[in-house]
Amino acid sequence: MEMDRKTKIGIIGCGQISDAYFKALTAFDNVEITACADLNMEAATAKSETYRIKAVTVDELLADPEITIVVNLTVPEAHAEVAVKTLRAGKHAYAEKPLAVSASDARRVLELAAGKKLRVGCAPDTFLGGGQQTSRKLIDDGWIGRPVAGTAFFMGYGPERYYHQTPAFFYKTGGGPMFDLGVYSITALVSLLGPAKGVSAIVSKGFEYRIAGPQSLKPYEKLPVEVPTHYSGSIEFHTGAVITLVASFDVWAHQHKPIEIYGTHGSIEVPNPNTFGGPVRLAVGDQPDVEWSDCPVTHQYTGNMRGLGVADMAKAIATGRQHRASGKLAFHVLEIMEAFEKSSRTGQYVELQSSCDRPAPLPVGLRFGELD
Ligand SMILES: NC(=O)c1ccc[n+]([C@@H]2O[C@H](COP(=O)([O-])OP(=O)(O)OC[C@H]3O[C@@H](n4cnc5c(N)ncnc54)[C@H](O)[C@@H]3O)[C@@H](O)[C@H]2O)c1
Repeated sequence: MEMDRKTKIGIIGCGQISDAYFKALTAFDNVEITACADLNMEAATAKSETYRIKAVTVDELLADPEITIVVNLTVPEAHAEVAVKTLRAGKHAYAEKPLAVSASDARRVLELAAGKKLRVGCAPDTFLGGGQQTSRKLIDDGWIGRPVAGTAFFMGYGPERYYHQTPAFFYKTGGGPMFDLGVYSITALVSLLGPAKGVSAIVSKGFEYRIAGPQSLKPYEKLPVEVPTHYSGSIEFHTGAVITLVASFDVWAHQHKPIEIYGTHGSIEVPNPNTFGGPVRLAVGDQPDVEWSDCPVTHQYTGNMRGLGVADMAKAIATGRQHRASGKLAFHVLEIMEAFEKSSRTGQYVELQSSCDRPAPLPVGLRFGELD
């Protein structure tokens, strides 16, 4: 009988984002979701029926000897606690973003994992998508020369109006536009440019409370705002590139591109880092009237592939290589995010303590479902 080589995965947290993982992970033949759990048993049962896996309690899932990786899709405030339980149960831990609501909580998780020789992985994994990887290759191959500056904008009017059923957590510790949106931009920037050196920023709050939208389970509920909702600042990277970043829940409409990077020989428009696809555009040349042109997306994984980082981690564990959406990368991103608030509070440039390796690029030419 052929040995089953699939890494068994358990999901804790069966809320709104979980469907994306249940669906995307079916693309990879090295992983299989076998069980799901949630504090709310009804939520777990609903997903177990849709995806034909077992629904169990959190403790039963953590005690299941078959499961190697636990994917933590709970709310941000529970991320560290669930990660600690997972690692204590002897399993690798992969979390939705953020890794934890503070760098000190995240450090505890990483230290526990290191002591137990277990892996920690963390979303976002959108930087592994075809659009971001195409941008990465163009920069690495020198099309824009040495990156010197850039902009990243991730702004909107908050999730409560548009789509979320339980939006209160977006306005509590671990929420806000930086932990919810800016995290995509910063992770993409670290993949594109390498680790950062320091941050100078101002943060503010446009509204003292928000009103949940009609799709909320408690429509028109008043949500107190406990976190900043507008972050504006600059990140200095070790390469010398300086990127201006704005992440906001206070903006009704704007016309900025998600990410642009300006190099010594040209500029690149990088696609929305909250998606996996394009468009990628280049303007190369040192003339003032240089034209922008569309670049073909050269890499695999352009649809909603949330979970790609989990499959990559499973493959990395099996082959002994580093995984890309790593705890170390997420920790550095978390420190950058916290530095915006710290810089604003102190009125000073914040030098970062942490660093990380640039995650390895994905190769061109993979088949759909294939990993290197
Ligand atoms: N909704 C999105 O579009 C989206 C997109 C990307 C990332 N995320 C991230 O995914 C995570 C979950 O978001 P969501 O929108 O699915 O939230 P959600 O509120 O819809 O779901 C969270 C689920 O986790 C469960 N839960 C909470 N604490 C728990 C605990 N200690 N143990 C077990 N279960 C627990 C809740 O009962 C709930 O069912 C968040 O970190 C969020 O930032 C969400």
